Amino acid sequence: MSDKRTVTITLDGTNKKSVIPLMSGTAGADVFDIRKVYGELGLFTFDPGYGATASCESKITYIDGDVGVLEYRGYPIEQLAEKSNFLEVCYLLLNGDLPNAEQGKDFEMGVMRHTMLHEQLRTFYNGFRRDAHPMAVMCGVVGALSAFYHDSLDIHDAESRRISAFRLIAKVPTIAAWAYKYSVGQPFVYPRNDLTYAENFLHMFHAVPAEEYKINPVLSKAMDLIMILHADHEQNASTSTVRLAGSTGANPFACIAAGIASLWGPAHGGANEAVLKMLTDIGHVRNIPDFLEDVKDRGNHAKLMGFGHRVYKNYDPRAKIIQKACHDVLRELGIKGDPLLDLAIELEKIALSDKYFIDRKLYPNVDFYSGIILKAMGFPTSMFTALFAVSRTVGWVAQWKEMIEDPDQRIGRPRQIYTGPATRPYVDTDKRG
Ligand code: CMC
Repeated sequence: MSDKRTVTITLDGTNKKSVIPLMSGTAGADVFDIRKVYGELGLFTFDPGYGATASCESKITYIDGDVGVLEYRGYPIEQLAEKSNFLEVCYLLLNGDLPNAEQGKDFEMGVMRHTMLHEQLRTFYNGFRRDAHPMAVMCGVVGALSAFYHDSLDIHDAESRRISAFRLIAKVPTIAAWAYKYSVGQPFVYPRNDLTYAENFLHMFHAVPAEEYKINPVLSKAMDLIMILHADHEQNASTSTVRLAGSTGANPFACIAAGIASLWGPAHGGANEAVLKMLTDIGHVRNIPDFLEDVKDRGNHAKLMGFGHRVYKNYDPRAKIIQKACHDVLRELGIKGDPLLDLAIELEKIALSDKYFIDRKLYPNVDFYSGIILKAMGFPTSMFTALFAVSRTVGWVAQWKEMIEDPDQRIGRPRQIYTGPATRPYVDTDKRG
């Protein structure tokens, strides 16, 4: 929403000035709208890493990083985690409001009717090495969906967008579970639409045809919770990647594949895998002080994985919820005193009282505990980020859809400050030094 207030910039040594309008959202910092500044002053803005740039207007997710608040469409994450379920949250993110009973049922059926993959997609898996990382398989197979579902590629048709959204949310768990099955040489398990979304994922992941697989309700509840917590997180790297790819008019399957690639990095979704590796490497509580000294020695490029966040300068609310769920799951599974959890709790305690982390406002983020709970639930470390991708697909799709439906949408095309060589003539090979 535009505001009556303005910010005025005057270019030193000239009489050029730009009166910049302010915009206010429902909550959060106001922004100033710099779109006309280049035309008026001939200047671009410089913000590598986009730390001070609102790249779009969005009605989906709100984060107050100073306080540690996360809301989907205005609903606090704590309430959604306690009272909702993943498919209801998907409806909320995509449509803006919680569904009534009938809308919820229709939506659930709409998603669950799309869980199967085109049978020919099975053959894609054979092209990968058995030790392929599940995220590598997901980048490839999700991108390949665009070669199979030509009937929903028209991004300007609302019905096509709706079907593509269903297809993506429904098929990504099947793709992820099959990536795992392929890696361990077990037969692919087909989806079961009579199960909930979380149950179906556990079934496709853990079941084998040789024996009955009984879904543990504690695990399916935990799976559903993990999915809710990861469903969206406003304009993070992978979401911005999806928006940027989508701004060109690329089809939604290609855009989500781009999001998966962006999520893979250890600074983003790959951190849950990196946390487990870090805890295993530390090995024992007595090694924590030495490890933290390494982290604080800037020459080492070591980070305390699962700590710090671009937006949260306080506890990530998802970390709090997941830490509690971690205890619940371990208790239910009869795992007494998981050494990695004990180590993580001690590491958190020591880091939170260390000046380095206090001064920089570094707190645990969602990834600090998610790996421990996923490990307890029987997932191998290599699957952690793939599970993040499964949960985040709905957020990516909701953000992509919001962008496409924005009448002012145009291609994302940042500028740069060029610091390379000035214009120079071509030098023939025999004249080069
Ligand atoms: N361990 C040690 N030092 C850190 C850490 C950390 N985890 N995170 C930030 N710092 C330091 C950083 O070196 C810098 O120090 P200085 O001011 O002396 O140069 C200061 O804190 C500010 O950090 P920054 O690098 O400017 O922060 P950023 O906003 O660019 O990076 C981050 C955010 C999440 C990439 C970073 O905190 C990090 O790499 N954390 C570890 C990886 C991780 O847990 N990622 C998951 C993020 S949450 C899940 C998701 O959304 O994907």
